[in-house]
Amino acid sequence: MFAPRSVLVTGANRGIGFGLVRQLLSLPSPPKYIFACCRVPEDAEELQKLADLNPSIKVLKIDLLDTASIKASAEIVEETVGDDGLNVLINNAGTLQDTYAHRFDDITEERLKSTFAANTVGTTMMIKTFLPLVRRASNQIADDKFDSSRAAIYTIASKWSSVSDIEQRLGFYWYTYCMSKAAINMMIRLFCQELRCNNENILCVNLEPGWVKTRIGTSAGLLTPDEAAKALFEFVATLTDAHHGCFYTCEGNECPF
Ligand SMILES: NC(=O)c1ccc[n+]([C@@H]2O[C@H](COP(=O)([O-])OP(=O)(O)OC[C@H]3O[C@@H](n4cnc5c(N)ncnc54)[C@H](OP(=O)(O)O)[C@@H]3O)[C@@H](O)[C@H]2O)c1
Repeated sequence: MFAPRSVLVTGANRGIGFGLVRQLLSLPSPPKYIFACCRVPEDAEELQKLADLNPSIKVLKIDLLDTASIKASAEIVEETVGDDGLNVLINNAGTLQDTYAHRFDDITEERLKSTFAANTVGTTMMIKTFLPLVRRASNQIADDKFDSSRAAIYTIASKWSSVSDIEQRLGFYWYTYCMSKAAINMMIRLFCQELRCNNENILCVNLEPGWVKTRIGTSAGLLTPDEAAKALFEFVATLTDAHHGCFYTCEGNECPF
């Protein structure tokens, strides 16, 4: 069963992130604290409405391009969760700058830098900043079991970033997006190995949500954000240490890095 006491989701104002927050509320045992992070809380109308109805939702400001906003939110999360720490960090926020600018000729220095700044640097800084709180949650339990609810970092990845599975590209390339997502995959692979070598029981798994109807996935996507989020949590509930450091679709199929 997936029943964490506290969960943080980035990019929670729309798309898959908003679906994740809604699905967290529908779990048999919903978290006591749902930290729903977005760039501009005052503009996140739907999320604010949901938070007004559900006091477990705390809307916080996190812009991946602004490390100070990440640190400020970590302080609020720490004050809220105290000695229990943060059970689950979900790195969902991400940017694909222009769906239709996907070829080599479309690469610009600005597009490359801003995409890496959010998807790679920002996500790395999220993990770095919140790790002490996730570690605190892990250390609450004496045994050495990995558990999807005890202490976990889930990152919403993309199969398009697979370096070894390039044949599926079929004429669409999205260089800057795929490069930045491949780089964060590498960071997470290294980080998982380091955690394992240090005997830290923090489960880290990359998750591919499928093709979802969002601004990134476009209206042609096959799943609604709620359907993707539901499938994601159903799969997360089955995770064990055998999944640590790997990359899966929400149907449980392993994706090649
Ligand atoms: N949709 C798919 O088919 C699909 C497939 C594979 C992977 N994914 C991944 O799923 C995740 C969610 O994407 P989505 O499909 O839900 O797309 P989306 O609707 O465009 O949502 C993207 C979210 O990320 C936030 N974001 C973007 N840049 C940010 C920044 N600098 N700091 C903080 N938040 C930022 C956006 O906030 P604003 O509203 O402020 O812009 C928004 O909340 C992404 O990591 C994406 O790569 C999606």
